[in-house]
Amino acid sequence: MAIITDIDQAVSLLQAGELVALPTETVYGLGADATNEAAVAGIFKAKNRPSFDPLIVHVADVQGAQAVAEVGLDAMALFEQFSPGPLTLVLPKKALIPDLVTSGHPTVGVRIPAHPTMQAVLQRSGLYIAAPSANPFGFTSPTTAEHVETSLGDRIAAVLDGGPCEVGVESTIVDMSGKEPKVLRLGGISLEALEEVLGPIPVQLSSSAPHAPGMLLSHYNPGATVHLFPSAEMAFQAFAEQAGPRDGLLTYGPALSHLRDERVVNLSPSSDDAEAARNLFHALRAFGARSAQHIFAHELPEHGLGRAVNDRLKRAAAKQKSDDKL
Ligand code: TXA
Ligand code: MG
Repeated sequence: MAIITDIDQAVSLLQAGELVALPTETVYGLGADATNEAAVAGIFKAKNRPSFDPLIVHVADVQGAQAVAEVGLDAMALFEQFSPGPLTLVLPKKALIPDLVTSGHPTVGVRIPAHPTMQAVLQRSGLYIAAPSANPFGFTSPTTAEHVETSLGDRIAAVLDGGPCEVGVESTIVDMSGKEPKVLRLGGISLEALEEVLGPIPVQLSSSAPHAPGMLLSHYNPGATVHLFPSAEMAFQAFAEQAGPRDGLLTYGPALSHLRDERVVNLSPSSDDAEAARNLFHALRAFGARSAQHIFAHELPEHGLGRAVNDRLKRAAAKQKSDDKL
């Protein structure tokens, strides 16, 4: 596999049915032509992803969305407000999209990504691109081309380098296929922003049902045990008492910014939740890369992108809890 920067080369590979990891503003995706079943099957195989976990389809614009799904009025209002951007809408699918992409569901997740490189790939190829996050199933999503190379390098044709991802957590998923909208995954668009358009929306994050499988509690394994605390003080106390020389403390905000210890990573000393989201996966990987066994972390305030960060931290911590029981 090669890290490439030539957009036309990526387009040719995708048109030939190859798998290419692509930059988006959220995380890198593992892309393939969504209408090519053999290519889509290759995504599941490369990621070791269970076939019951449906893929998101990326399109260049609202016309693309209408080609792959039924876009109702509320969905259109959301696309108009937030797209291109980190929002995925679950909509009734059209026949063009193979059942393999949607794991047999009558709905499809549709996203209009903002990253200029991804936009260029979509526009030049004319393709609809199925792309889950470009990580082996259950592991942390990649936010740089190098992350992809490390974990999937021998299984895919290429990764198109578009620099580090700006948002850093995956898209917010809203199910618009039922009577009422429902948030299925917290991500790059905040709940508060969505509610400004639609009014109050229930959040139904699934933890174990295969229906929204990216939400399985077993996601975001960073290779170390994550211990999550409600406050910075509690995380620090546990870290001070228990941490070994390679372990880490993952913090946020000014409370612990006086600490001079290279094992401490502050996601955003100024309490900027978008900055924290951008830094999260890279920080988790960096702890793993230096063989940390334990990561002590604390929750962010539950607003804006802090919700998405907390959700990822809880899943990373829950994964380890279930491993410990084995
Ligand atoms: O930001 C993102 O969304 C990234 C970038 C690459 O676009 N993609 C991403 O894909 O995070 P993935 O496959 O890692 O997560 C997609 C989630 C999964 O949890 C999947 O179960 C859910 O979307 N999903 C996809 N189609 C669905 C559908 N029809 N109904 C319910 N959930 C769906
Ligand atoms: Mg994923």
